[in-house]
Amino acid sequence: MQSLKNKYKLYHDKNNAAELGGGQHRVDKQHKGGKLTARERIHLFLDTGTFVELDKLITHSCTNFNMDKSVIPGDGVVTGYGKVDGRLVYVFAQDFTVFGGSLSRTNADKIIKVHKLALKMGAPVIGLNDSGGARIQEGVQSLAGYGEIFYLNVKASGVIPQISAIMGPCAGGAVYSPALTDFIFMVKDTSYMFVTGPEVIKTVTHEEVTKEELGGAITHNTKSGVAHFVSDNDEQTLMMIRELLSFLPSNNMEETPIIPSGDKTDREDENLQEMVPADPNKPYNMLDLVTTVIDNQHFLEVMPQYAKNIITGFARFNGRSVGIVANQPAFLAGVLDINSSTKAARFVRFCDSFNIPLVTFVDVPGFLPGTTQEYGGIIKNGAKLLYAYAEASVPKITVITRKAYGGAYDVMASKHVMADVNFAYPTAEIAVMGPEGAVNIIFRDDVNTENKSKKVDDYRTNFANPYRAAELGYIDEIILPKQTRQKIIQALDMTQNKSETNPPKKHGNMPL
Ligand code: HXC
Repeated sequence: MQSLKNKYKLYHDKNNAAELGGGQHRVDKQHKGGKLTARERIHLFLDTGTFVELDKLITHSCTNFNMDKSVIPGDGVVTGYGKVDGRLVYVFAQDFTVFGGSLSRTNADKIIKVHKLALKMGAPVIGLNDSGGARIQEGVQSLAGYGEIFYLNVKASGVIPQISAIMGPCAGGAVYSPALTDFIFMVKDTSYMFVTGPEVIKTVTHEEVTKEELGGAITHNTKSGVAHFVSDNDEQTLMMIRELLSFLPSNNMEETPIIPSGDKTDREDENLQEMVPADPNKPYNMLDLVTTVIDNQHFLEVMPQYAKNIITGFARFNGRSVGIVANQPAFLAGVLDINSSTKAARFVRFCDSFNIPLVTFVDVPGFLPGTTQEYGGIIKNGAKLLYAYAEASVPKITVITRKAYGGAYDVMASKHVMADVNFAYPTAEIAVMGPEGAVNIIFRDDVNTENKSKKVDDYRTNFANPYRAAELGYIDEIILPKQTRQKIIQALDMTQNKSETNPPKKHGNMPL
């Protein structure tokens, strides 16, 4: 009979083997590359001492390519649950030291188990990805695992928040599950995402590209719009995910957590009176306006480096989370183009899925004209934002600070897509188009330089203001800029119990 001592030794040996992953030399390599291990990441991410690991001793059952001789308990992914700021979350972290974090059938089953638990218990899932994709030795079994994870990502979409961090080289199937989740974080210099790597690209298209250029953090945060956040290292990434979670409910049936700020609800700021310049062609930084009115200037900007002509992000008013969407006149005059429309549309839909009210600041000259935009499908892409706003049934509060021209006026949470409270500053210009454009068309055959500027001035006086829209009830109230915070808080308070449902349907057919 085995002695008690031996039984405990076996327990410790097995656990130690699981914790060592692919071995000390691979752990050292991971550290040398500026990366933490899967377990280190989880412990840093969760509230201290709250991690409960599942399936720590599970092993793969592959026998191809002598794989039965390489069996590591846990098999390349660490899974379980714990707390973030005292709230339940589920987590999985791929262990690059075990077969490059590649996805085996067993490994997929572990991820699927936490995902199903998260759905059942109504808590977010956070995936810390560091994986070479499908485990090549397992062939189609690995693909099956991926397919089932993708399926669960889709089923859980809009039910529980799903957040992905890319913390190493993620290739092949390893990028598609993150792409189906709500937010992607990337770590500068150590993370990559691509469907096929530089070597394959060279063979197929003869293009030469580095992995950084192809799928590094900067590429996906500035060019492709695949990622939403970039950070300097693993630790910063994990802290940013904790911050994001603080704005979100645990599931679509819950309200967002209230975090009292101590910032006065009736705080007025005289600086706002001068923030929008008198000259309509002069830019200003909308971010300054946003941070002035929210609680404690605390703004978590989403996709700050992509399509900078629109700002998206999370903030709080009187402790309550809101999603902010704001045209940015300091970049491309705040115009709506393909990238800004899709960026904002996805953000609006996320907020609507998770009961987060939308506060929209409008200063938009219209849609960007030109063949690049038309051939790229500005019609269908602009329609995404229109669709998202019209579909959103959360409280929608809108502040027009300056320009609200043409179709872009309608799109940006106007009264006509059923916004609940629409404010405008006295500086607002709400019209079909800007004065110069309007005069050029209306008086096409009748403008010379002399009378053109008078006609432009006349048009500006008569139409480029908020008063016609206010007379028609399209603007509920014209407010002074310094009152913005107080007015938004009152509107959020008034709409707190809003109950609006879309007509019953399987799902809408959003333009894609
Ligand atoms: C099995 C893998 C692996 C994989 C890496 N490894 N990827 N094992 N299956 N997919 C192993 C390596 O053999 C190595 O083992 C260890 O992980 C570390 O890998 P390195 O290559 O030494 O690391 P690095 O130089 O950092 O390069 C990382 C990498 C590269 C860029 C991810 O390993 C790579 O290109 N891997 C293959 C990527 C790929 O083509 N995956 C399949 C995609 S197809 P040792 O024992 O030496 O430590 C796919 C289909 C799904 O995913 C599609 C669904 C839609």
